[in-house]
Amino acid sequence: MPPVRRLGILTGGGDAPGLNAVIRAVVKSTCRRGIECVGIQDGFEGLLEPDRSRVLQPRDVTGILRLGGTILGTVNRGADPRRLVATSDGPKEYGVRVAEMAGRLGLDALVVVGGDGTLAIAYHLCTLGVPIVGVPKTIDNDIVGTESSFGFNSAVEYATDAIDRLHATAEAHHRILVVEVMGRYAGWIALYAGLAGGADAILIPEIPFDPHIVAERLLARERRGARFSVVVVAEGACPKGGSPAVTDPGGRGRLERLGGMGAEVCRLLAAETGKETRSVVLGHLQRGGQPTSTDRVLATRFGSYAVELAVRGRFGTMVAYDPPAIVARPLGEIVGKVRLVPVDSDLIQAAKAIGVTFGD
Ligand code: F6P
Repeated sequence: MPPVRRLGILTGGGDAPGLNAVIRAVVKSTCRRGIECVGIQDGFEGLLEPDRSRVLQPRDVTGILRLGGTILGTVNRGADPRRLVATSDGPKEYGVRVAEMAGRLGLDALVVVGGDGTLAIAYHLCTLGVPIVGVPKTIDNDIVGTESSFGFNSAVEYATDAIDRLHATAEAHHRILVVEVMGRYAGWIALYAGLAGGADAILIPEIPFDPHIVAERLLARERRGARFSVVVVAEGACPKGGSPAVTDPGGRGRLERLGGMGAEVCRLLAAETGKETRSVVLGHLQRGGQPTSTDRVLATRFGSYAVELAVRGRFGTMVAYDPPAIVARPLGEIVGKVRLVPVDSDLIQAAKAIGVTFGD
């Protein structure tokens, strides 16, 4: 197996707290093994132009462990690597072009940190011969093959703190407070933050809800003397027979943007219960900010194990958390799939057992 002398790293897709911790771990562990580490700016886009990459030294990553965002930058577009891009010698497949440029940069290995879209491109590039190790990243926690991705814990902590605050004002004003959190296909953030924050209703994409059932449960609380309620709604949740709320239909390689289901639920509950109701969207506040200690540790383990896999020549894999171990999973096994909340899981059962409604 040829030795790895030069390893590139890039971050793609939406940011997540802990990206910088991965970059730091990769730079530090490559340096200790005598491998040159090249940081590529703005995801795969940065590979298309030679002046958007630079050698990273340990001093470049000093102090970034606790920072949100990514020092390398990221782009969140173009999930289809087969689309055509213009080159000096005519149109070329984006994936083919990126693979050529990775070769020209002299990279013996490439660590790609990203979510489902970025990892799908990484998998395609592997089939074109680019030696890639993937690192799963998403606050939504919906990448299959890993129990958890970094960023999720930070998002849940933030959302829980927000729910705690909203509880206080809901109770003071005898209102219903509806909180919309991220979670495009999977309701992990809503479920964890809702449980941790003591929500009365949690609406997730995996369980289509009936607003009448939610309203009836909140009115039953009222009859028992609890004059306020907190409802957590994942952005991808939808009513029975309905569809998720979309703010921008996307297109041209861009995913549609979700948002607005919290406001919709707020309107429906106000009409059904007659109570004063307000809604709040946490949005990108969940993605920015410092990573929690849990995410810093997970990201550090992922980054150092990604280098280990590259040195062993285990390309076409993704690092994953299989408690208590960090393991490798074939990228081909995770691409195109989504890790949903199992509706028969003990998490859902525990929530239902203490009276939380999912509107089903
Ligand atoms: O995939 C993570 C995520 O946070 C989704 O929950 C959300 O739909 C999306 O990113 C928002 O992305 P953008 O920053 O492009 O609006």
